[in-house]
Amino acid sequence: MRFDVLTLFPEAFAAFTGHSIIGRAVERGLISVHCHDIRDYSTLRHRQVDDVPYGGGPGMVMMCEPIFKAVEAVQAMGEAPAPVVYLTPQGQPWAQPEAETWAAGDRGERMIILCGHYEGVDYRVREALVQHEYRIGDYVLTGGELPAQVLMDSVARLRPGVVGTAESVAEESFSVALDRKREYPHYTRPAEYAGMAVPDVLLSGHHAKIEAWRRGQCRS
Ligand SMILES: C[S@@+](CC[C@H](N)C(=O)[O-])C[C@H]1O[C@@H](n2cnc3c(N)ncnc32)[C@H](O)[C@@H]1O
Repeated sequence: MRFDVLTLFPEAFAAFTGHSIIGRAVERGLISVHCHDIRDYSTLRHRQVDDVPYGGGPGMVMMCEPIFKAVEAVQAMGEAPAPVVYLTPQGQPWAQPEAETWAAGDRGERMIILCGHYEGVDYRVREALVQHEYRIGDYVLTGGELPAQVLMDSVARLRPGVVGTAESVAEESFSVALDRKREYPHYTRPAEYAGMAVPDVLLSGHHAKIEAWRRGQCRS
């Protein structure tokens, strides 16, 4: 799957794409992340991309032109038009079923992600270019770079081969296998630590009982 990220801060993605499970997925060609600097599409002095809001008020608004040009250029890099996602506190909640839909390729193999900053983007961008708007929580961050990484991470780890064991993504919090509930507790060695013991059932070797115990521990 290919992710194209439109951002004012492409350097914010270096750690995300360079390390750990996502870094390995990039290295192995299972996903690709292409960051595009919106400032490269500004025609104004000092690569300006924002301006004061019509109607007054605090803060700056990201202008139409650089974003329209950036989206046009990035769309031209693919064979077919890709869906454009805008991260905004005003969007629908991002949740596991959405991640599953994107990971399954139901909306194509490419996702263009627009990261806002300041007060956000000129509304005409949202009306004309954006098909999906998501928020990652009911709070406000300074920019869309962290939300973009949250989206990509949650989609990428559901793609085949990205996480080592397929079962570990099939049966975990919010999955269908766990009835969309939260996962049961995990323990590893030692069996007792500082007076705290692992539940006996997990040491019993009785698979049916272990399974039943785990199911009982899942919280809605
Ligand atoms: C300071 S926020 C803009 C907040 C906007 N004025 C509002 O009140 O809804 C700047 C950018 O950060 C990103 N952002 C902030 N919080 C977010 C959230 N909870 N989910 C997704 N994106 C968020 C968006 O891209 C947004 O355009």
